[in-house]
Amino acid sequence: MGKSTKSDKVFFEPIIDKAVSPRDMEGKIEEIEELIMIYSCAIKEVSTKLEILDYEFKIKGKRNPIEYMKSRVKSPKSIMDKLTRKKLKPSIKVARKNFNDIAGIRVVCSFVSDIYKVADMLKRQEDINLIEEKDYIKNPKTNGYRSLHMVLEIPIFFSDHVEPIRVEVQIRTIAMDFWASLEHKLYYKKGEGIAIHIKNDLKDCADIIAATDIKMQNIEIEVDKIR
Ligand code: GTP
Ligand code: MG
Repeated sequence: MGKSTKSDKVFFEPIIDKAVSPRDMEGKIEEIEELIMIYSCAIKEVSTKLEILDYEFKIKGKRNPIEYMKSRVKSPKSIMDKLTRKKLKPSIKVARKNFNDIAGIRVVCSFVSDIYKVADMLKRQEDINLIEEKDYIKNPKTNGYRSLHMVLEIPIFFSDHVEPIRVEVQIRTIAMDFWASLEHKLYYKKGEGIAIHIKNDLKDCADIIAATDIKMQNIEIEVDKIR
């Protein structure tokens, strides 16, 4: 084998990072595993609360407000990408301090009134602390996006300590979820360079969907009267 050339070095450098020893790597993996464990526990706590509320409504003979829920812990790669985007130090500690969406739950409700019913029931719980609320239903985003966003803080009880952990909860109707999922998919494929007429069409779809949500809500009120 010949002497290593400059281009070999450039090729190998990103793979073998001499600054990170196996011991450091072990520490990092443990830190990431702990992060995932803590935020998964917070998701479990809030999801259980939501399931109980939904179940109670069903048992009391009322229509249950939740259609379905999805949850996720932000992946280590997405956390690092967001830190870079926000020009923050690439560290788990910094992410935990600055990000409210490491744990996320999406709650999909049947009708618009159910969104506020679910949100109010969560906010009333003694161990839940409301950190932030953004009502993109009353104040839709310019692109037409609608949802109710809340950042909640919940205490997680471990063997030797209690930790308040933040969870981002997005609550929306099936119709809003349909629009947001497809819009996200379109942007994911095409990025920001999407043509203005497509943006306008997407906004029109969001407005039509919002009008349909109101119509469905009115039908529900009518039907409820004769139940
Ligand atoms: P981040 O720090 O990037 O999370 O910004 P933010 O906290 O100001 O964002 P915001 O609370 O407005 O939105 C957070 C999440 O809501 C996003 O990660 C998406 O899941 C969802 N969201 C917000 N705006 C849109 C939108 O225009 N389209 C879609 N499809 N989803 C959106
Ligand atoms: Mg956010």
